[in-house]
Amino acid sequence: MSATTKKILVVNSKGGCGKTTIATNLAVAFANQGVKVSLLDCDKQASCSHWAEERGAQAPKVNTVASYHSADKLTAQIEQELNQHTDVIVMDATGSHTDTALFEAALKDSELVLIPMLASSLDIKAGERFIADLMTHRVMRATPKPIGVIYNRAQSTSANQQRLEDLLRCLDVPVIAELRDLSVYAKAAEIGAGIMEMRENAAASNEYAAWRDIMLWIDRRTANRRELPRPIQAGRKVSRTDQNQSRVS
Ligand SMILES: Nc1ncnc2c1ncn2[C@@H]1O[C@H](COP(=O)(O)OP(=O)(O)OP(=O)(O)O)[C@@H](O)[C@H]1O
Ligand SMILES: [Mg+2]
Repeated sequence: MSATTKKILVVNSKGGCGKTTIATNLAVAFANQGVKVSLLDCDKQASCSHWAEERGAQAPKVNTVASYHSADKLTAQIEQELNQHTDVIVMDATGSHTDTALFEAALKDSELVLIPMLASSLDIKAGERFIADLMTHRVMRATPKPIGVIYNRAQSTSANQQRLEDLLRCLDVPVIAELRDLSVYAKAAEIGAGIMEMRENAAASNEYAAWRDIMLWIDRRTANRRELPRPIQAGRKVSRTDQNQSRVS
């Protein structure tokens, strides 16, 4: 069993918000760091599995597994990955029904949750409901885990973005990165790649800073879990980081 495997759940109830795009790009980013990564396809649409069929044999390996058949199968698969010392498990899941056994198993076996969100008014309403469902879910209450929102197809000037930021501030959920609306994401998906592998594309290269933010957030959050809690010095103001650490530890 590996105690150091990172287990990342990418989920939202809203269709088309970028779950598969983010899960596949994340898996590719890790694979290109030379670590052993598995992408568990927990959505019956099987988009990750279709993506993997297009992935070239020469590309850094992303072990993609159809894990959407049942909760038991998903749990068994995760156990197998841990036994095989997989470094990173990325799960692509739909959160349209948070009361299903499959959703529960994915949540239970993850250590942090990434929520892609678009900033249309319908996406914001659905996202608010989803985050509330997630935060009050019995698995989350029993084993709290960090949640980070990835603002996808960002339009920095839109009024909706301001609404989204206000909402997330109220819920105390951070936006960890903003991804631009770029056709290179669709191009990468068509060939079973991630934008990290399209270095010749200027738009893709300009997006790498956002992906570094995502990787850094994941590293910090998974490292926190393994660190002993640090005592807070008397008189020092409790920072947001300290608060978040104590919440997830
Ligand atoms: N940042 C982006 N820029 C441009 N296109 C994007 C971006 N993110 C996602 N897309 C495109 O939006 C569409 C939906 O994305 P994706 O399939 O990742 O969403 P999803 O949440 O997995 O959807 P579903 O609910 O159907 O599983 C795809 O065509 C994808 O290429
Ligand atoms: Mg999908």
